[in-house]
Amino acid sequence: MLIPYAALLLASATLCHALGEQRFISFAPPGVSLLSAPILVDEGDFKGVQIAAQSLSDDFRKVTGKPAGVQNYTSNVNASMAIIVGSLGQSALVDGMVKEGRVNVTGLEGQWESFVTAIVQKPVKGVDKALVIVGSDKRGTIFGVYTLSEQIGVSPWYWWADVVPQKRKEIYALPVRTHHGEPSIRYRGIFINDEAPSLTSFVLDKFGPVYNAEFYKHVFELLLRMKANYLWPAMWPSYPEPGNSFFVDDPLNQATADEYGIVVSTSHHEPMQRATNEWLTSGQGAWDWNSNKAKITEFFRVGAERAKGFESYFTMGMRGAGDSGISGSNPLAILEEVIATQRDILKENGEEDVKQVWALYKEVQAYYEQGLEVPDDVTLLFADDNFGTIRRLPTEAENERSGGIGVYYHLEFVGSPRSYKWMNTNSLGKVWQQLNTAWLRGADQIWVINVADIKPMELPLSLIMTMAWNGNYVTKDSIPDFLETYASREFGTEYAKPIANLLLGHSHLVGLRRHESIEAETFSILNYNEADRVLGEWKNLSDTASALYSKIPDSSKPAFFQLVLHPIKASYTFLDVKVSQAKNSVYARQRRNSANKFAENAIERFNDDFDLTEEYHSLLGGKWNHIMGQAHYGYTSVFHPPSRDMISGLSYVQVRQDTVPALGQMGVGVEGLVGVRPGLFNEGSDLAKPSRDDLAPGFLLPPIDPYGANRYIEVYARGTPKIQWSVKAQYSWIILTPSSGTLTSDRPDQRIEISVNWADVPIDFIGKNALIYVNSTLGDYEEVRLPVNNRNVPGGFNGFVETDGHVSMEAAHFTASTQSPLNSSSPHYEILPYLGTRTNSGGIALYPVTAPSQSPPASPYLDYSVYFFSQKTTVNVTLYFTTTLDTDPVRPLMYAVSFDQDAPANTTRLLAQPATAGDLPSGWTDAARDGVWRRSHTFTSSGAGPHRIRYWALEPGIILEKVLVDLGGVRGGYLGPPESMKI
Ligand SMILES: *[C@@H]1O[C@H](CO)[C@@H](O)[C@H](O)[C@H]1NC(C)=O
Ligand SMILES: *[C@@H]1O[C@H](CO)[C@@H](O)[C@H](O)[C@H]1NC(C)=O
Repeated sequence: MLIPYAALLLASATLCHALGEQRFISFAPPGVSLLSAPILVDEGDFKGVQIAAQSLSDDFRKVTGKPAGVQNYTSNVNASMAIIVGSLGQSALVDGMVKEGRVNVTGLEGQWESFVTAIVQKPVKGVDKALVIVGSDKRGTIFGVYTLSEQIGVSPWYWWADVVPQKRKEIYALPVRTHHGEPSIRYRGIFINDEAPSLTSFVLDKFGPVYNAEFYKHVFELLLRMKANYLWPAMWPSYPEPGNSFFVDDPLNQATADEYGIVVSTSHHEPMQRATNEWLTSGQGAWDWNSNKAKITEFFRVGAERAKGFESYFTMGMRGAGDSGISGSNPLAILEEVIATQRDILKENGEEDVKQVWALYKEVQAYYEQGLEVPDDVTLLFADDNFGTIRRLPTEAENERSGGIGVYYHLEFVGSPRSYKWMNTNSLGKVWQQLNTAWLRGADQIWVINVADIKPMELPLSLIMTMAWNGNYVTKDSIPDFLETYASREFGTEYAKPIANLLLGHSHLVGLRRHESIEAETFSILNYNEADRVLGEWKNLSDTASALYSKIPDSSKPAFFQLVLHPIKASYTFLDVKVSQAKNSVYARQRRNSANKFAENAIERFNDDFDLTEEYHSLLGGKWNHIMGQAHYGYTSVFHPPSRDMISGLSYVQVRQDTVPALGQMGVGVEGLVGVRPGLFNEGSDLAKPSRDDLAPGFLLPPIDPYGANRYIEVYARGTPKIQWSVKAQYSWIILTPSSGTLTSDRPDQRIEISVNWADVPIDFIGKNALIYVNSTLGDYEEVRLPVNNRNVPGGFNGFVETDGHVSMEAAHFTASTQSPLNSSSPHYEILPYLGTRTNSGGIALYPVTAPSQSPPASPYLDYSVYFFSQKTTVNVTLYFTTTLDTDPVRPLMYAVSFDQDAPANTTRLLAQPATAGDLPSGWTDAARDGVWRRSHTFTSSGAGPHRIRYWALEPGIILEKVLVDLGGVRGGYLGPPESMKI
């Protein structure tokens, strides 16, 4: 495991704009001015270094208005200051300087992708002074060059996101020697996948008719600028036929990748450097090893020969046709034969040392767990569950494999249970937790990230590639610092902080649930103000982003739109459509006039969404046309994304018509209930279906007490007349805001907040109902019952207090623990503040990630003190765990919990043992989309009074977010009740 230059970086993490790097450039003295310094390279150096040097020259033009100019060094060069770039052992220019002892490259030789920068006096004949960048190898030099680019202010995304560098009049090289050691992950890059319709339409439009080298050069350059090196090219067998084949679409693709310095591999099911589409168009019959061995072997051979001389990472093994499981009665035997054949081919080709990877994706992981033998020098590539949760990490024995271990991770996906490929819906906290764990557990040979159309994933991909370059740079607590550094790199320091806050807010909200899995009903419009709370948070972000957009300089607006405004505004719009649909549906049942308003809002916002897409597509004269073209409204029961946006199920009320006189023109809505209640005749039944089922409790509010939320009722128009209404409470200590008003066509609904002045409530007013009278001048009359509980916790109690029949606690807010000092190396709990899918405070897990298994009761625990008023003797405790999976075949995720006891009754495995080793556990389909596992335990309680829940995490990797005690009052909602009061 590599821990490069960590200490240096942590100190400067928030100051420097280069992600994961030590700074060696500044824009003010002291230092050596780089203005008009030519870039000197050696004519014998790698072509990729020459390409990077040209990019650097152009980056100087972007920043200073003048290119630096690249020259092959000759003794005729004459410069007072230069930038000298070269690779150890490949650049005679650099080797000469090293030999003469002019540049200190101690520790560099033999390193992987490392580089040194230094200011050197009289480096070579004709040059007085130089900033020298020496790479340990080809990419080490290239990364050094692009680090300089980033530090002078050119973002890796300058082309991809139109990030405009700040103009500089002065650029100085600091008088420091820096040594950027080996990256944390050896091969790190992307999989361009599921690329139709968006990216493919874009490429066809801008680069035409295939994914050619002109397009891929932008990909290669982006990867190198992010210090990545590895690519699975686009390969969808989709429209237009026959789909994409990197190797044959443009014969220059493979060679250009190699020149640039990109290691080409192929997706998990495309072995031997061949695209699936090559097979599909070859007319060679079935992709079936048993029946078509000879032709498939020949197909493999062509791939190996074609790749000769290029830096490649061979994908091994085989899946069935169309990325499905392999067919045949003994798949293990087939796979072992396939891989033996593939290795023979490589051997015959004289390439037995070539890098090889085998993706243990879906069923192949199960075969592996069943004993499939994979040669030791083949990299094992473990995968996530397609939804960002890693399924397997190396054991100690596997960490000894010479081929090493990698991870295939998804930021987008097409498949079950539901595709998500519109925009970035990844929680940075979750991504960080998963990949940081992967690194610390030794999965450091390959990280390949499925990024779909690339562009929407700018932010999470930047985080991941920074982590892959320097695993120590971003910590669980420093995600906001990372975002601020990222934002200042893209937009300058002035707006960095507010932008970082916006991106952090975005990450939190998309972390609740991916957009594609949000239905109109997901967030409750009836309970806990849930839908309005989430929508309100999106609205705040969107309003702030829009306000900032108007302030930032015009030159930065396109980048801001792409990186900040669109992701937030489109998300807000999306949820607004959904919540409007939900309100429309319920309000129409209640025959509210306002139902139509929400129908219209849903349609208006649906159109806003398309306007936003069009705005994106028309940016900068249409540069990004098509890129946001993925339809995202109208999912059905299948996993496929919609073919075209569609919303359904809107309801309309005939607002020119009155409600039958017996029921009255004013309705009363009660928190938590969809009931359509009578108005004029309190005892009458509502003839308008389907309201009869909850007639009796129809006017019963949830209870109110000193430790919980206020309540509300609503009055609403359900007829044509203007309605004057008033409300009055039975007791003066009930406060109704507002208490009277008029329902008009502009304002057909009014919410009335109900609060209580507890100081004035009689001491024994417990479990009794207070009445709220609702009247209209049309004669409507209603009585709403409000259960009031004037209960008080005795002094001396510290902890969470029951309200409304439950106690809800965020796990990070434990009341006591056996916490050892933070950062201690012995097992202890740490809060992951930015990962909460159900909380604002994140989750809590056992650290370090390599801690041994724990055994209760002696091992570290967390206590949650609760106070019950309820006399219930059976209580239900639900634990919400972040969706993680068993990543160790012999150490499943375990926890223990107790109620009022020092020891747990038993210890619990979080996930059911799958029927087949390597399969996903039952319940995963929901957990993948919910972001949490819910686990309920029933305990016996002695009734009212203080109690204690004790929790033990018995393995690292199990993350507790929320503890919910149900005393009979928990009502429906996605997030569960908000946190109860802690005293
Ligand atoms: C430097 O030399 C190489 C090899 O001859 C050549 O390909 C390259 O174009 C030269 N670069 C410049 C800037 O002249
Ligand atoms: C070269 O750099 C290394 C690492 O910073 C340092 O330990 C060593 O003293 C330097 N050597 C010289 C000759 O300056």
